[in-house]
Amino acid sequence: MSIDQPIELGLKHWKFSADIEGITWAVLDREGESANSLNSRVLEELEKIVSHVEQGAIDKSVKGLVFMSGKPGSFIVGADIREFEQFDKEQIVRDMLKGVLDLFDRIEALKVPVVSAIHGICVGGGLELVLATHWRIATRDDATKVGFPEVKLGIFPGFHGTVRSIRQAGPMAAMQAMLTGRMIRYGAARGMGLIDELVPSEHKLRWAARKAVQRKRKAKPAGRAKAMMAQWPARGLLAKKMRDATAAKVRADHYPAPFALIDLFEAHGGDLKVMAREETKAFAPLMVSEQSRNLRRVFMLSEQLKAQAPKGLGFKPLRVHVIGAGTMGADIAGWCVASGMEVTLQDLSEDVIAKGIKAQSRLFRRKFKTKAAQAAAKARLIADAAGNEIGRADVVIEAIVEKVEVKQGLFKAIEGKLKPGAVMATNTSSIKIEDIAEGLADPGRLIGIHFFNPVAMMPLVEIVRGPDSRDDDVNKGCAFVKAIGKFPLVVKSTPGFLVNRVLAPYMMSAMTRLDKGMKRETLDEAAKVFGMPMGPIELADSVGLDVCAHVGKILGLSAEGSKLDKLVAAGKLGKKTGQGFYSWKDGKAQKGEVKADKAELAKLGRELVEPLISQCQKALDEGVVASADLVDAGVIFGTGFAPFRGGPLHFKASEAGAASGTGAVSGIGGASKEPNRAAAE
Ligand code: NAI
Repeated sequence: MSIDQPIELGLKHWKFSADIEGITWAVLDREGESANSLNSRVLEELEKIVSHVEQGAIDKSVKGLVFMSGKPGSFIVGADIREFEQFDKEQIVRDMLKGVLDLFDRIEALKVPVVSAIHGICVGGGLELVLATHWRIATRDDATKVGFPEVKLGIFPGFHGTVRSIRQAGPMAAMQAMLTGRMIRYGAARGMGLIDELVPSEHKLRWAARKAVQRKRKAKPAGRAKAMMAQWPARGLLAKKMRDATAAKVRADHYPAPFALIDLFEAHGGDLKVMAREETKAFAPLMVSEQSRNLRRVFMLSEQLKAQAPKGLGFKPLRVHVIGAGTMGADIAGWCVASGMEVTLQDLSEDVIAKGIKAQSRLFRRKFKTKAAQAAAKARLIADAAGNEIGRADVVIEAIVEKVEVKQGLFKAIEGKLKPGAVMATNTSSIKIEDIAEGLADPGRLIGIHFFNPVAMMPLVEIVRGPDSRDDDVNKGCAFVKAIGKFPLVVKSTPGFLVNRVLAPYMMSAMTRLDKGMKRETLDEAAKVFGMPMGPIELADSVGLDVCAHVGKILGLSAEGSKLDKLVAAGKLGKKTGQGFYSWKDGKAQKGEVKADKAELAKLGRELVEPLISQCQKALDEGVVASADLVDAGVIFGTGFAPFRGGPLHFKASEAGAASGTGAVSGIGGASKEPNRAAAE
C-alpha cells in the first residue's frame, strides 16, 4: 500500500497529494460546506493543481491525475449559484467563462492520463469538469447520478458541456439530457457514454482509477451512427423534433434557455469546434436574463425552506403512524415509505387500508428500480387497523374526516399513547389547530402538517403552528418534512393557512368572470400566458369542485347561485366525476379553441393573478409566514406560481420597480422588508 505525500500548494478546498507511483490525487473537499460546488476560489486552486501537473508531466515526476471528492455520497453539485449574482453583464459572464474554459482545455490537454473517480451526485459544472478529463469511473450506487440541471436555472451548460457531452454521447442523448435537466443514474450514464467504467462500490474507486492511469485509458467519442445525427439533414430534423417536444412543455418567452440550446445545436452542431465558440455567445445573454435571475432566486428560496428545519435537533424520524387511509392518508403513508421510513396505517375500515396500501404500488415502482427494493418498500407499509403501533411512531399524522369534533375525539383518545418526544400532527386543511387541540391534556403538542394533493407531486408541506404549539414540535415537524424530501413552510394557524388562502381568491375571481360570461378556455389560457402551470378553471376541476366550494365558504368567498354551486349540487365535481366546468376524458379536460390575441391574453392573465398577489401581501402583513421571501417560496412550491417570475411579491416589486424606472428587484430578500438571509447550505 502506497503512502501519499501531500503536495504543498497552499490549497484550502482541495487535498492534493502524490503517491509513490507518481499519480497525483486531487480530492475536492470544500472548506465549511456540506457539498462541493465550483466557485472562483475552488477554480483558482484547481489552476494551481493543473500547473503543477503540467510541470510534472514535462519533468516526468507526475504520471497521472485523479479527481475525487472528499464529501460522503456527493461528488460535485455544480457551479456555486451564490456567485452568479456578480455576473450581471454579458461581458463579465464572457470573461468568467473564458477563464474556466481555458482551464478545462488545459486539463483535457494534459500529457498524462486524467481520470475522474465519481461517487455520488456529479452535475452541472461538475459534470462539465469530468467531461474534460480523459476517463470517467463511477460507482454502481444509487447515490451516483449525473446530469445537466442548468435549464432549471434558465441557462444551459456553459463550460463547453454542450460540445463535450455531444462528443461523448452523441447529439440525441446529450441534447435530451441538457433539455430536460433530468438526473441520470450510473447505468444509463454508462450506456450513454458520459461514464466509461463502473465499479461496485466506493472502496474500489481508487484502485480502478490507479489502473486507468497506468493503462492510459482514454474515452472514445460516440460512434459514427450516433455522431451522424449531428450532420445535415438529420440535425435539422432532430432540432425540429426537440423544439416541438420542448414547446409542448414550456413557452419560449417564459423559458428561453432550452430553445436557445436547440438553436445553437441546429446552427453549429455539425462542427463542435465552432459550437464551442458559439456556446459562450449564446450563454451570456441567458445568464444575465431576468428569467434566469428569477429561477436562481427560486433555487435559493428552496434552500431557505429547507433551512427552516434547524440542524442538530437530534430528531431522526424513522417510524410514522398515519390515521385515516383515504385520499390523503394513504398517499402520505406511501410517500413516507418511499422516503425510507416504516409506516403503520390505521383506518376504521380494513378494506380502505388494503385499498390504500395497494394504491402505493405505482409509486414504489416509480421510485425503486429493482423488484427487491419494491418488495422491501411494500414490507415497510403495514396495516394497523387497531392502532397498536402508535406508541412506537416518531411522527403520528391524522388524516381523517374534516370535522372538528371527530378530530378532537381522536386526539383525546390517542394523546396518552404516543411515545414521549413523538410529533403529533393533523393534516387538516381548514380547521384551526387550537380548535382541534381543545380539551387535550397537552394542547401545545399538536401541530399541523398540511400536505397537498396529489402528495407525490406537490413539493410543499405547510407546518401549521397553533398559538400554543411549541417551537420544538414545529422544528421537529420541519425536520420530518425535510426527511421525506419535501419543503416545509411554517405558517400561522389562520383560515386557509398560506396556500389555500391565496389560491382561493384567485380561483374564485376567475369563476366570477365565468359567471359573467367569459369563456373558460380564455381564462385558462390567459393564466398560462402569465406563466401558471394550469389555468384556474381547469385547476378547480382538478382539485374537485366540492373542495373548492368548501374552501370558498371557509374563506367567505362563495357567491350565491354561482355556476360552482350549481355544479356541486348536481354532483358534477370536476375531473374525479368526469364532468365539472369541463368534460373530462382519459384524465384530460376537453377544451375548445381560444380566439383572443396574445396581448389581450397577457393583460387578462395579469388581472387574474392580482387577487392572489394582494392576498400574499395581506398574509405577510398578518404574519401568516415570517418573510416575503417565504411567502414567495410557499406560493411557488405550493401553487406552481410562474417560477420564472420569482414569486408573487417579488414579481409585484419588480413590476413597481420597472414602472418607476428604478429597475427590477433581484436576489433573495429583494421583495422583503426583512434583512437579507443568505441561503443555508
Ligand atoms: P377521505 O374521506 O378520503 O379519507 C378519510 C379517511 O379517514 C376515511 O377512509 C375514513 O374511513 C377514515 N376515518 C374517519 N374517521 C376515522 C377515525 N376516527 N379513525 C380512523 N380513520 C377514520 O379524506 P381525505 O380527503 O383524505 O382528507 C383527510 C384529511 O386531509 C382532512 O382533514 C382533509 O381536510 C385533509 N386534506 C385533504 C386534501 C384533499 O385534497 N383531499 C388536501 C389536504 C388536506
